[in-house]
Amino acid sequence: MTHASGSERPPGPRGHWLFGNTEEYDRDRNGFLERCHREYGDVFSFDARTIVVSSPEQVHALLTRTNKDFLAENSPLAGPMDTERMAADAELWTTTRRAGWQGLHRRVAEAHAGRLRAVFEETVADGEMDVLATMTRFFGRATADFCLSADAAGVPEVLAENVAAIDPLSRDSLQLPPWWPSRKVWRFARSRKRLLGLMSQIVRGRRRLLGDGEPVQDLLGVLLASSAELSDVQIERFLRGIMLAALGVPASALTWIVYELSARPDVLGRLADEAGSVGEDDGVPAVGDLPYTEAFVKEVLRLWPPTWLIGRTVRRETELDGWRLKAGDQVLFSLYRLHRDARWWSEPDRLVPERWLEPHAAPVRHTYLPFGAGPRVCVGTQLGMMQLTLATFWLVRTMEIVPSGGAADPDFSGLLVPRDLRVRLRRKVVRQSA
Ligand code: HEM
Repeated sequence: MTHASGSERPPGPRGHWLFGNTEEYDRDRNGFLERCHREYGDVFSFDARTIVVSSPEQVHALLTRTNKDFLAENSPLAGPMDTERMAADAELWTTTRRAGWQGLHRRVAEAHAGRLRAVFEETVADGEMDVLATMTRFFGRATADFCLSADAAGVPEVLAENVAAIDPLSRDSLQLPPWWPSRKVWRFARSRKRLLGLMSQIVRGRRRLLGDGEPVQDLLGVLLASSAELSDVQIERFLRGIMLAALGVPASALTWIVYELSARPDVLGRLADEAGSVGEDDGVPAVGDLPYTEAFVKEVLRLWPPTWLIGRTVRRETELDGWRLKAGDQVLFSLYRLHRDARWWSEPDRLVPERWLEPHAAPVRHTYLPFGAGPRVCVGTQLGMMQLTLATFWLVRTMEIVPSGGAADPDFSGLLVPRDLRVRLRRKVVRQSA
């Protein structure tokens, strides 16, 4: 990395002679990034091949130049750094993504929203609970329903196994290669194969029925009907990618929502007023009918973005903010720090849903990115907002939330989650009119 100014690399902490900064980073990931930002400014070196950027312009450039100069491809396992193979994977993914994008259109989302209430009732019941585990079950079923509707039986369980096997690998700073003789690696490979095998069975089954009546209103139906003529393998991998992306991240967001509901009675009161204003017979409300609830969800995603750290691999020699980068270098940024930077946000550490309701309330450009940006922006942005807003509405309307352990002790080792949050949910008594 060479700067236009002549410096070889951005400044940064020297770290241990053998382990670099990994040990200190792993002790307190967010604290480490915050200290380095304060000390070295908006760009610093984490190690000889990794830089961390922090300004909205640098982050915007990194995200919008993804696919062209940077790559978003990654795996929980280490492998030889072959940027051309990664670029070929990116191209294949992008073709499927384009066809899949249509699958996230309104009719499919509305059909899914109609079924989501039942999924919510079956998974989020009265009683004491580990919130993250419950919300993971809810989104496992929700995402399987959205992708496969009536063919989803058995999928949430196999998906959960794959997610549970990825988790310990993605928490490690040091990646293991696929041939490493460890239970963790073996469990991951086995669960991935099982999930892809199940997808393959379902895709083949559905292909046989193509042309018999109305196409099914789910993502698989749209992919099979696409004019892009996707191969089975393309569809199976895309479905797996979508289901993984649409499980852990929204589950973490909903867990933070429950935390804020239990910690902020004033906000809960306003949410309850809004939920009470929707008639029982009005069916599933649209996000636009719940402006305060939507503002609350946006604000929770600002304070607690589940994908708190985003990384890219440099595809070919290029520059970013004047720093020369070589193919295979890494660039990181913390979405969590960007969302709480006092240069762009007033009261950055406080939950203020009202900031999204004020006229002219648009944030400073490129400072609010809970769904990313550029060619690899989240494909589930609208769907995710809809699911989170409806789940908040149902929670507030039907349940009382009593905290029963765990504080908002944020865990930054994988997705950003509150460590061990537990609550007791009590179904509200609905008074019958005489
Ligand atoms: C509700 C909360 C959600 C949040 C906060 C969220 C956040 C994100 C973010 C930040 C990224 C970009 C990561 C990067 O740039 O490296 C992303 C990518 C992605 N998300 Fe979401 N997501 C959510 C829900 C969903 C849902 C419901 C789906 C499924 C339909 C989904 C599917 C995806 C996919 C497939 C990608 C990868 C896109 C690509 O690389 O081309 N997400 N998400």
